[in-house]
Amino acid sequence: MSKITLTVIKADIGGYVGHCSVHPELIEEANRVLEENGKGLLEDYVVTHVGDDVNLIMTHRKGVDNPEIHKLAWDTFLSCTQIAKRLKLYGAGQDLLSDSFSGNIKGMGPGVAEMEFEERPSEPLIVFMADKTEPGAWNLPLYKMFADPFNTIGLVIDPKMHQGFKFEVLDTMENKKIVFSCPEELYDLLVFLGASNRYAVKAVYSKSGEPAAVSSTQRMNLMAGRYVGKDDPVLVVRCQSGFPAVGEALEPFANPHLVAGWMRGSHFGPLMPVSCKGATPSRFDGPPRVTALGFQLAGGKLVGPQDMFADVSFDRARQKALEMADYLRQLGPFEPHRLPLDEMEYTTLPQVMEKLKDRFE
Ligand code: F6R
Ligand code: MG
Ligand code: MG
Repeated sequence: MSKITLTVIKADIGGYVGHCSVHPELIEEANRVLEENGKGLLEDYVVTHVGDDVNLIMTHRKGVDNPEIHKLAWDTFLSCTQIAKRLKLYGAGQDLLSDSFSGNIKGMGPGVAEMEFEERPSEPLIVFMADKTEPGAWNLPLYKMFADPFNTIGLVIDPKMHQGFKFEVLDTMENKKIVFSCPEELYDLLVFLGASNRYAVKAVYSKSGEPAAVSSTQRMNLMAGRYVGKDDPVLVVRCQSGFPAVGEALEPFANPHLVAGWMRGSHFGPLMPVSCKGATPSRFDGPPRVTALGFQLAGGKLVGPQDMFADVSFDRARQKALEMADYLRQLGPFEPHRLPLDEMEYTTLPQVMEKLKDRFE
């Protein structure tokens, strides 16, 4: 049997209400289009949402960057946009930055994470999906999963993991990438991963080159040249038997870290792990959310999903995130709740400066 490709493509094509969630009719429509147009193309698919983003999780045998698969996703989002426009949902069609499909959905607005691999005798994997944040939000969890023995004991005691992993890091400003081999280059890696507004882990590989994780790392604002919302990234992680155990892949989210995004894409807030049902960011348009859907692949079929963060063991992480949110909200418009001037997605600085320029002495 040929290799399987897992493709996750996501877009915000209209919020319900505001930027909080996705209207059920959009999910229905996405399912309908994938069912009809995906015949003979897809092995399987699941449609879900996190916050105001529709996520298409698809399996097929066409490899990554396949024009037919990308067009299928594009057409699905176009169809959903028609409904979003009829319902006058907020920002209908906002992530579809182009009028016509050009062969590859990358660079056209939607986020893409895909990997091609040989399906193992058992193939557990997790699709993480975030809302109200940016691709660099995965840096810390990916570091913990694949490089931190305090998170992933397998790095220490599993002979299949002990040699470490390779991290492919993208400079999202310069659009250049570099690969670090870890643990040998751990300290070099961290110089970049710590600057998560600029550098983002694109992929992780085993030392033999087997894909272990892949994320969506576009910067939509840089593409559109105007504010169109945060990128709200997705991440796929293969688990077990030489990759992090399911529990090692989930563990980094038990201690919510601060990510850029939240209200008006201009604030730091805790990344709160939630069930799919809980993925409706409402307080101050947040706080930022992450969901995790677990699947077993079986001959290309997506057996699942299992809603991993619905588990009671993440209740305290949610509690902690809410306490962090309370604390940060008290800072109002002050840093470090509000992002530094040059990283905010909204600003009135030029206008205010212009108005006041003669009063500066
Ligand atoms: C965050 C986000 C929202 C909006 C906010 C204002 O990514 O999309 O927080 O920025 O609701 O939206 P507008 O400017 O459309 O009124
Ligand atoms: Mg939105
Ligand atoms: Mg969103």
